Amino acid sequence: MSENCNQNCNSCSEDCAERKEQKTDFSEKLHEMSSIKKVIGVVSGKGGVGKSLVTSMLAVTMNRMGYHTAILDADITGPSIPKAFGIRGKATGSEFGLFPVKTKTGIDIMSVNLLLENDTDPVVWRGPIIAGTVKQFWTDVIWSDVDFMFIDMPPGTGDVPLTVFQSIAVDGIIVVTSPQELVSMIVSKAVKMAEMMNIPIIGLVENMSYFKCPDNDKDYQIFGESHIEEIAEKHNLKVLAKLPIDPKISAACDKGMIELFDGNWLDSTSKLLEERLEEN
Ligand SMILES: Nc1ncnc2c1ncn2[C@@H]1O[C@H](COP(=O)(O)OP(=O)(O)OP(=O)(O)O)[C@@H](O)[C@H]1O
Ligand SMILES: [Mg+2]
Repeated sequence: MSENCNQNCNSCSEDCAERKEQKTDFSEKLHEMSSIKKVIGVVSGKGGVGKSLVTSMLAVTMNRMGYHTAILDADITGPSIPKAFGIRGKATGSEFGLFPVKTKTGIDIMSVNLLLENDTDPVVWRGPIIAGTVKQFWTDVIWSDVDFMFIDMPPGTGDVPLTVFQSIAVDGIIVVTSPQELVSMIVSKAVKMAEMMNIPIIGLVENMSYFKCPDNDKDYQIFGESHIEEIAEKHNLKVLAKLPIDPKISAACDKGMIELFDGNWLDSTSKLLEERLEEN
């Protein structure tokens, strides 16, 4: 122990045996006018597997069940939520903070595309600015009486997902995979990240799992055989849903009409989320 020990390891650089590691708390305070009951992060280790689609469909499903639902679009450089919901308006604000934009069915959305003058303007910002913007979506936006907030994450385990997990009070994460990717490795990464951050994994969603042929009603595994069950078992996780490749889904996204999607693939997932809300 240093001769001048004042018991405050944070202000001391001595490398002594009694050193107590003090965990730095990076959590950010939610806007004081906001109220959010459950925050669910939608992640994957890879781009283009359907995070934004699953985020949108979960929000729509919970909204249909009568819950007030919101989406925080944390994908700053590739925001796709406003387009899927056909939102062209811009976010407004007051002296108290920013207001999310409501979709046609009443889902609250905040995305960088609702703040840019032209939604075709590229966001060419450095990492800390991007991460800071996501934090502001938590601290400076007024999220009124939200039951479920879904966070659409950018791909991977980089700067922004890290910021989200450290600064936002995420209750659980849903991992989206597709059959053709190196699922095992990607799920392992997500599990390790979640463990490091102390956030429970609610389960796995396999997207683009199969294609149901409209002519013979048979399922075809276009991207190969699924191993999702074995992987889930290995990590003691649940498989929440398997979504088919469905041209109607991509068309709905492209036309900004995801609120009209038809399909019951996420019904058991939504029941599970509902139970989590009732737990407290
Ligand atoms: N099950 C599906 N059936 C048909 N089209 C799909 C399906 N899932 C995703 N798509 C389409 O694939 C594209 C990629 O999906 P999405 O944008 O949700 O992926 P992402 O993981 O969010 O990508 P990024 O990493 O770029 O954010 C979109 O055009 C979407 O409409
Ligand atoms: Mg996306």
